[in-house]
Amino acid sequence: MSNTEKILVLDFGSQYTQLIARRVREQKVYSEILPYNVTIDRIKEFAPKGIVLSGGPSSVYEKNAPLPDKEIFNLGIPVLGICYGMQLMARMLGGKVAKAAKREYGRAELMIDDDTDLLRGIAAKGKGQRAKGRKPVTYHSSLVTVVWMSHGDKIVKQPKGFNPIAHTDNSPVAAMADKSRKFYALQFHPEVAHTENGARILKNFVFNVCRCKPKWTMQSFIETTTKEIRERVGKDRVVCAISGGVDSAVTAVLINRAIGKRLTCIFVDNGVLRLGEATKVEGMLKKHFHMNIICVDASKRFLGKLKGVTDPEKKRKIIGNEFIRVFEEEAMTIKGVKYLAQGTLYPDVIESTSFKGPSATIKSHHNVGGLLKDMKLRLIEPLRELFKDEVRVLGRELGMPDEIISRHPFPGPGLAIRIIDEVTPQRADILRKADAIVLEEIKKAGLYNEIWQAFAVLLPIKTVGVMGDERTYENVVAVRAVKSVDGMTADWAKLPYDVLGIISNRIINEVKGINRVVFDISSKPPGTIEWE
Ligand code: XMP
Repeated sequence: MSNTEKILVLDFGSQYTQLIARRVREQKVYSEILPYNVTIDRIKEFAPKGIVLSGGPSSVYEKNAPLPDKEIFNLGIPVLGICYGMQLMARMLGGKVAKAAKREYGRAELMIDDDTDLLRGIAAKGKGQRAKGRKPVTYHSSLVTVVWMSHGDKIVKQPKGFNPIAHTDNSPVAAMADKSRKFYALQFHPEVAHTENGARILKNFVFNVCRCKPKWTMQSFIETTTKEIRERVGKDRVVCAISGGVDSAVTAVLINRAIGKRLTCIFVDNGVLRLGEATKVEGMLKKHFHMNIICVDASKRFLGKLKGVTDPEKKRKIIGNEFIRVFEEEAMTIKGVKYLAQGTLYPDVIESTSFKGPSATIKSHHNVGGLLKDMKLRLIEPLRELFKDEVRVLGRELGMPDEIISRHPFPGPGLAIRIIDEVTPQRADILRKADAIVLEEIKKAGLYNEIWQAFAVLLPIKTVGVMGDERTYENVVAVRAVKSVDGMTADWAKLPYDVLGIISNRIINEVKGINRVVFDISSKPPGTIEWE
């Protein structure tokens, strides 16, 4: 994107690298992460106003320690090194790093010696003592704040031109600066929430040191991106697969804004969707955005392929492959299609280019990659610079209803991996009804937005029950509701008993084929969110 107010983050493998970019973007300044060994030409082309060197698991005196191109220090722009980034700055600029006598991990009290620019306004006067024999640069040595440390090495000699700007009991140089060259380095992590005023430090770097202007807003993103899409696509046509999820819907709405009816969305009903899903998504896109949308009812085809299949991975593969076929057949019917739009997000992009090595960019369940080759389509990924929460903000700015924006994630293979054992049309119908009741009651109780995912699972066991005077012998439904930040770990949601009671009553009374409801109280790990 064309924007001159940018901060580059070079990734040395820290688990917190993404957070640095997010904290910068929260200041309305665009930030991007590139691998540490990116060429100097690429950096010049990116033209950042400042560079942040992330932390990382390595030690600078390891044999193959990751080091950036030394030229980054000759670009005449500010550099901020964090943790490993600090140590490599020290080493590359002529200082000395050694193993610390004591590893410093976790909370530490930072005593600020110079609060004039980077560390301005981050600490209140506290009880902290100045390290013995050290002269403060200014007279605020009793300014104390809590920071988060995680390092085993320390600076024993600062490079020429540097002065300490903060210390802890353990690290005489917990932060240092060469103000004339605008080089700064921190031993702790300002990007994590445990560092009390970390966001302010990064804000200071962005505004006080790099002199950026806050221009990165969703409105500006919408303007530049629609313009770019319009220029790139010209008079050609674009096709986009809609899944019912947030990412593909926002992608479609954004592209629609740029090129209108030259975008065609394809929504495939695979027979294992939630109740009313196809109508809901189609309705939203047509009603609010007047889009071209083709809804394909391929449920018979999918369910036919799933007949007799019990292995979860086989179910996934069948659904993924069949999806590509159906999508391709439909896309082929549209004349003049040159582009395929996809809702790839920034974390997927970083995954595939980062320090940690390449991984597949296209998620297996959205695997329409084959189309690119067969149909000679070019890829458009307008969300590839955004994090998930930014996509939600974007969707809201684009006027999309909250009902779509705050939806729980739904797996590509849909209800097929929530019907344990074989998927049959009858079972899919039963589960759809039970699932709708779970969601309806959770929404009614005002709990939907606190929960990451809530759903029903159909178990392949029969239990005895009694309804009226009759003995029943029917299936069990398990209710699953989890809280999570990213789906990687999750805890079961403590749903109130009365809500669970209503869900259970309604399912047993309203869904024929179910006579027992249980509640899943496993967390992840060791459990997973889905049952298959
Ligand atoms: P698990 O079950 O692995 O789920 O704890 C983590 C998150 O991933 C979703 N999930 C899938 N999504 N295709 C998808 O698109 C799949 O095959 C798949 N399996 C799990 C799950 O719903 C949860 O959000």
